[in-house]
Amino acid sequence: MARKFFIGGNWKCNGTLEEVKKIVSMLNEAEIPSENVVEVFVSPPFVFLPLVESLLRPDFQVAAQNCWVRKGGAFTGEISAEMLVNLGIPCVILGHSERRSLLNESDEFVGDKVAYALSVGLKVIACIGETLQQRESGSTMAVVAAQTKAIAEKVSNWANVVLAYEPVWAIGTGKVATPGQAQEVHLELRKWLHDSVGAEVAATTRIIYGGSVNGANCRELAAQPDIDGFLVGGASLKPEFADIIRSLT
Ligand code: G3H
Repeated sequence: MARKFFIGGNWKCNGTLEEVKKIVSMLNEAEIPSENVVEVFVSPPFVFLPLVESLLRPDFQVAAQNCWVRKGGAFTGEISAEMLVNLGIPCVILGHSERRSLLNESDEFVGDKVAYALSVGLKVIACIGETLQQRESGSTMAVVAAQTKAIAEKVSNWANVVLAYEPVWAIGTGKVATPGQAQEVHLELRKWLHDSVGAEVAATTRIIYGGSVNGANCRELAAQPDIDGFLVGGASLKPEFADIIRSLT
């Protein structure tokens, strides 16, 4: 089964009300391929989710940037997966490296979050990736395999999981992984899924790349056989996000 290209814009902790409305208008006017060719989502900060969901064109999905690890309750400051479902938000990004490093989210915690979000019906974009030090010490594959294993141990149905490989050294640095470097890790990850989870999951799970993707480098990355889309940070706030969405055409 062909894997449909999947492109997301992670707005991170950016934007005022006015800026968010501007980005949405820009996206609403963008010419992009049909939903049959590419699935697109944007991920605004929590407070803007309902607004973006109500203003954005229907062929784009909206995703949250995080959610709590279990059912809501006395967890001050958290947003539960059930609340996202209640608002009609279909997807959530989990395990982003900024949360792993700044908020000490462990592999196990991310695995638990992924399993819980899936259990309430959300689609999950699960982020993994190595630091520069880990890459330079030759442990890239061991790191991303351990991060994926922590998810695989908690998840039995991968139909609603998209893996986002985001080398930490490429995030927000302008230092994009070369197409060869990204393809190498995506292929190894697919082999890992094949051997550890199963042939069908390996063949059908989308593995998207994130880390300094922009309008200039997206086409060469998109041409790699195991790159099934992108998770875009900085460039998703700019008109060039539309060029990235068109990277396959
Ligand atoms: O979630 C997106 C990634 O962190 C990539 O961010 O495109 O600004 O490097 P970036």
